[in-house]
Amino acid sequence: MTRLVNRAEEGRQTHELAEVLEIMDEKDTLKKWAGGCRLPLEEWAWLNRHGIFEEPRLREYAAPFPPKPLISNVSGLTNEQDFAQHGVDIYAALTAASPRPLTEYENILDFGCGCGRLARMFKGHPHRITGCDVDPRHVSWIGENLDYMRAVRTAVHPPLPFERDEFDLVIGISVFTHMNELSQDGFLDELHRITAPGGRLLLTVHGSTALKRAKEEKGIYDMLSVDGDRFAEACDRFRENRHAFILQHGHLTQLPPGNAKGPEAGKQTLLTRGWHFLRRRLRVSQTPQEGAYEYGITFIPEAYITERWTRWFRVEEIRKGAIHNFQDIVVLRPEKGSSR
Ligand SMILES: C[S@@+](CC[C@H](N)C(=O)[O-])C[C@H]1O[C@@H](n2cnc3c(N)ncnc32)[C@H](O)[C@@H]1O
Repeated sequence: MTRLVNRAEEGRQTHELAEVLEIMDEKDTLKKWAGGCRLPLEEWAWLNRHGIFEEPRLREYAAPFPPKPLISNVSGLTNEQDFAQHGVDIYAALTAASPRPLTEYENILDFGCGCGRLARMFKGHPHRITGCDVDPRHVSWIGENLDYMRAVRTAVHPPLPFERDEFDLVIGISVFTHMNELSQDGFLDELHRITAPGGRLLLTVHGSTALKRAKEEKGIYDMLSVDGDRFAEACDRFRENRHAFILQHGHLTQLPPGNAKGPEAGKQTLLTRGWHFLRRRLRVSQTPQEGAYEYGITFIPEAYITERWTRWFRVEEIRKGAIHNFQDIVVLRPEKGSSR
């Protein structure tokens, strides 16, 4: 066959073969990225932080991105690259906080998963990943786009639709940073129920690092967009080692059904006077009614965690400012059985 090919033809064929070989070689090289989060952390981080933005062919090895309105809904970020960077930073901080490699946990829950800022980083995980969220837009996007995980829409009040002791790792990024104390207690109790004995929880809070920065850095204070008087009240509560929650009207804050004159009037009162005013005026009990859910900015002192969260958990560590020198990661182990 080769003998029948003239020199020009031969040259062309040789050239094509070289190309094919080069492509095959490249494909083999590219294939290594299919390992996803099983790759060494530095490589997986590089791919997500830089690789996919520098080389379009690498895109298929990282998880897809949600649409921009969803990105900004959960993170306030406006572009894919920043969203990816945050995902890497959070994943790296969790890796450093966890007593075991994240790939070794067999059943992980990303509680309040949003639209996957962290969950995107679990692509390639060898075991089971579940994300849950109260926002149906987030859950639908995850369900339709991250084929390596189960997405479950959950309610704003416990219980969660999971089995007792189901997960060996529960993660909650930027969720307890927004809850009032009543919701916090309800969900800590519930997360305790669904975490296996010997399992871990990695939950973030705004602690003294975040509060100090909010007091000292105008950019941070503005980002929180909280009322000045309420912020001062929160600082007082924090100083007394109490849970410091500041209500904000957001996409999750709902009015108790049937209690406001009209949704707009109620929303306006909520915006200008806050929940506590609305509650007093409407003689609503301290317990939010079914369907109502408070959402805001929460600061939680370390001493409060070691005192109150120990009702359910052993506090193994509080890694101050572990994420962006702003959120602390609280490493917890459930106290189960007679030891509780
Ligand atoms: C600030 S976003 C963070 C999302 C994600 N963890 C991340 O770091 O990108 C907070 C998320 O928690 C969800 N959330 C709030 N309260 C929740 C609750 N009680 N149960 C489950 N998800 C909740 C919100 O819908 C939102 O997606």
